[in-house]
Amino acid sequence: MTRTEEIAGNLAKVRERIASAARAAGRAPESIRLLAVSKKMPADDVRAALAAGQRAFGENYAQELRDKSALLDAEPAPPEWHFIGPLQSNKVKYVAGRAALVHSVDSAALLDAIESRGATQPCLLQVNVAGEASKRGIAPADLPALLDRFAAMKHVRCEGLMLIPPRGDARPHFAALRALRDHEAAIARPNVELRELSMGMTDDLEVAVEEGATIVRVGTAIFGARPL
Ligand SMILES: Cc1ncc(COP(=O)(O)O)c(C=O)c1O
Repeated sequence: MTRTEEIAGNLAKVRERIASAARAAGRAPESIRLLAVSKKMPADDVRAALAAGQRAFGENYAQELRDKSALLDAEPAPPEWHFIGPLQSNKVKYVAGRAALVHSVDSAALLDAIESRGATQPCLLQVNVAGEASKRGIAPADLPALLDRFAAMKHVRCEGLMLIPPRGDARPHFAALRALRDHEAAIARPNVELRELSMGMTDDLEVAVEEGATIVRVGTAIFGARPL
């Protein structure tokens, strides 16, 4: 089996996992988007996934996103890049305006840095629902103030929330993110429309779909183990 065949087969399996979890939860499979996490994987792996019909790719490192987009954006059907990793303000220039969606906005300073690039940029806010000291993300209590801040933005919009759960049972964390989204979505704010819930990875995508994910971010099940 070639690498291209392997990736195509893995993608088909992941799509089927999403579809059967959606059906079991009474949701339309098309209401969940698959983001292929290509972090640390070569451009040829992204090409193979593109050939198998995958469009959206997630990257964790700003320069890697810039470099892969330089290599692949001339493809006939180019990737739609999503940025999902920690982002320092000095690296925003590699990402803003290039990513279809930045999933990992986690501070007012980062939001302002993205806005100052002057390019239209849809974003999600990364929330630390478990309050883990070691994880990035906004504390739920700070979310309303950050959402209010979008009113002053000309270029950046908020389209939803993102979560990286702690190890262990992710379900309560997924449910908490959804409850937070539902609560905040009832409040009308300029430049904020909380339709996306980015949650679920290789090991827990079914649980995330059951709990309302609209975007699942899957790396290992598509590309295999990442190089260290
Ligand atoms: C933010 C984020 N989402 C999703 C993934 C994909 O995880 P997995 O390989 O378990 O599918 C990664 C991997 O590093 C990640 O950093």
